[in-house]
Amino acid sequence: MSVARLAARASVVRRSVIPRSAGVLYAPPHWSRRLNSSTSFQAKDALSDATIPPRPKKVLDALSMAGKVCMVTGAARGLGNQFAKAFVDAGCSQLAILDLVKEDAHKAAQDMMNYASSDGKSDVTVIGLGCDVASELSVQAAYANILDKFGRIDSVVASAGIVENYEAMDYPFDRVKRLFDINVHGAFFTAREGARAMFRQGGGSIILVSSMSANIVNVPQPQTPYNASKAAVKHMAASLGVEWAKRGLSFDPVAFASNSPGYMLTKLTKTILDHDQELKKTWESLTPMGRMGDPEDLDGVVVFLASDASRFMTGTEIRVDGGYCCL
Ligand SMILES: NC(=O)c1ccc[n+]([C@@H]2O[C@H](COP(=O)([O-])OP(=O)(O)OC[C@H]3O[C@@H](n4cnc5c(N)ncnc54)[C@H](O)[C@@H]3O)[C@@H](O)[C@H]2O)c1
Repeated sequence: MSVARLAARASVVRRSVIPRSAGVLYAPPHWSRRLNSSTSFQAKDALSDATIPPRPKKVLDALSMAGKVCMVTGAARGLGNQFAKAFVDAGCSQLAILDLVKEDAHKAAQDMMNYASSDGKSDVTVIGLGCDVASELSVQAAYANILDKFGRIDSVVASAGIVENYEAMDYPFDRVKRLFDINVHGAFFTAREGARAMFRQGGGSIILVSSMSANIVNVPQPQTPYNASKAAVKHMAASLGVEWAKRGLSFDPVAFASNSPGYMLTKLTKTILDHDQELKKTWESLTPMGRMGDPEDLDGVVVFLASDASRFMTGTEIRVDGGYCCL
């Protein structure tokens, strides 16, 4: 761990033990009066200490994932796979790729190792693990495996998710339940186990992949349970972000964010488009930028949210949707 990160951590711990009376922080008039009192230097020290920990790195260094251990669910393909690749590009040293079918995860891990070494990054270790995020036990087993191999975990992305298009009246309930088990409960299990490990080690970041569907109703295809599941994921990130922003005296916060893509070209959307060739044109006409997103369009956001550059953000949502939600 870098000296800068340790210094930042020490500062956060000190901040936690400043008594509530130092609440002058949020009351500028009292603060000014205190500056003129005999305790002015103490108050000044408390203020600067409590408000902003020393900036650990220059901005481009803060965006680096160097030395970090990352994990992405649903990463054998699609957006999850691209998030994993972005972490490798940004210099992460250890990476776990999780997906439902163990063989798919293993193959994706091998492909990622090949990608890294073809890019001159021979010091990256990538493992592939089978994991059904809808099963709490399966998620716990995957984390145990990662912690056993890598010893810690710094950044997690919960990307595993499914979508289906049924009219609400015709949606079989067992399928609605399965969708919520994966999209909502899976995100929760992934977040909670990640946070448990991060609280023990002293901080980290967790990104839940929501969707622009958390904010708008997609048309013309019907997908009410999906939209509701993504709204739940978005608010889960906000709620966990608040609940776990501070915990005890000796922990860095675990930061949460939801990353909400618009229509991106992956297997998930291709499956839908295979049944309706006209739909792509409709989606593009509804998107101010006039195109579907390429998974690589999410690289900057996922690295930013996972890195130290976003250290004062939690519970936030970042939309990457070509302007779709602005209309
Ligand atoms: N593609 C888009 O346009 C789009 C837009 C907004 C949000 N999203 C969200 O992004 C995430 C990834 O979507 P994608 O387009 O990459 O989909 P995708 O279908 O291409 O990939 C999803 C991956 O998740 C895995 N998965 C499914 N169920 C799982 C389970 N129970 N446990 C573990 N892994 C499981 C699949 O095997 C697959 O590898 C999803 O949460 C999706 O809702 C996608």
